[in-house]
Amino acid sequence: MIDLAAFYRGRRVLVTGGLGFIGSNLARRLVDLGADVLLVDSLIPDYGGHLFNIDGIEHRVRVNVADVRQQSTMNYLVRDREVIFSLAGQVSHIDSMRDPFTDLEINCRSQLTILEACRHNNAAAKVVYAGTRQVYGKPEYLPVDERHLVRPTDVNGINKVAGEYYHLVYNHVFGVRGCSLRLTNVYGPRQLVKHNRQGFIGWFIRLVIEGRDVEIFGDGSQVRDFVYVDDAAEAFLLAGASETTNGEVFNVGGDEPVAHRDLVGMLVDIRAAGACGSSTGRPRRSHRHRQFLLGLLEFPKPPAGAPRGLPKGSPARLLSIGDLGAS
Ligand SMILES: NC(=O)c1ccc[n+]([C@@H]2O[C@H](COP(=O)([O-])OP(=O)(O)OC[C@H]3O[C@@H](n4cnc5c(N)ncnc54)[C@H](O)[C@@H]3O)[C@@H](O)[C@H]2O)c1
Repeated sequence: MIDLAAFYRGRRVLVTGGLGFIGSNLARRLVDLGADVLLVDSLIPDYGGHLFNIDGIEHRVRVNVADVRQQSTMNYLVRDREVIFSLAGQVSHIDSMRDPFTDLEINCRSQLTILEACRHNNAAAKVVYAGTRQVYGKPEYLPVDERHLVRPTDVNGINKVAGEYYHLVYNHVFGVRGCSLRLTNVYGPRQLVKHNRQGFIGWFIRLVIEGRDVEIFGDGSQVRDFVYVDDAAEAFLLAGASETTNGEVFNVGGDEPVAHRDLVGMLVDIRAAGACGSSTGRPRRSHRHRQFLLGLLEFPKPPAGAPRGLPKGSPARLLSIGDLGAS
């Protein structure tokens, strides 16, 4: 097992997208572990970054408001960093179709910018990239493992998979150690809920909190996989600390899929407000996910002892990151 406290204590770490949802949660864990944390974020309006995401740890991290698209900036910022968590991204699939070139610049070209910065200024850095399960498109079989065909269905998916493959190539060809975590639907504190273009779960939660109706497509039987942000952060920490992850991709998901109508039913039950637009019948309840969602609605933490689905999208592989050891 990897001793995360021993590995990260005093470790010089960079988190791009560090003021965003997942990046700021990861930053909190890194601060707790005693890492020397540098956050880089451009704070582009309408994306998920905000200074209040680091409320309480602002004096324990360094923040550089900068854009990962800038080669000279990145050349400088990567220089003394031992582990780089590459989370800066344009996350909206809708926006990627409206404005494909911005998505290309941030999700694809910027990954080369960061990797080139490492190659020429800090080839010893380990880079952990935030990939996405969207690269698989419509699944041919379930559960989807990493051998599943990659067949993205939108511009964001294409650019994310290109960004991911740069990391694998730089690992294999230039020795800049890298790996990718393909995240499913991440949820938790500090998630953007101000608009509905960054995925549906944050938006559903907002609607329920405000007592508004939640509309779902069809009968709501479509299932999705969710992962709690602490578990996603844990997966990043493990991947960053392990040499056995180099050149690999890993699915990071939750314990069990949840149907849209069940998700909305749970949210509504918890908040006792709103109504489930198109769902039919009484939603099946899952105690486990009820606990998760309760935790989410009662920001910032789930109740003590709540079951937390450790990343299980690819059960054997992801859970094994921790078992493989640091080298
Ligand atoms: N949230 C999910 O469910 C999910 C699922 C799969 C993959 N991901 C990936 O995880 C990463 C983080 O996502 P998130 O949910 O925390 O989103 P987020 O929007 O909260 O965080 C992304 C951060 O990146 C910053 N950023 C964007 N462009 C930048 C640039 N050019 N330079 C510097 N900073 C920039 C934004 O300001 C924001 O703070 C993204 O790469 C995303 O593709 C997220």
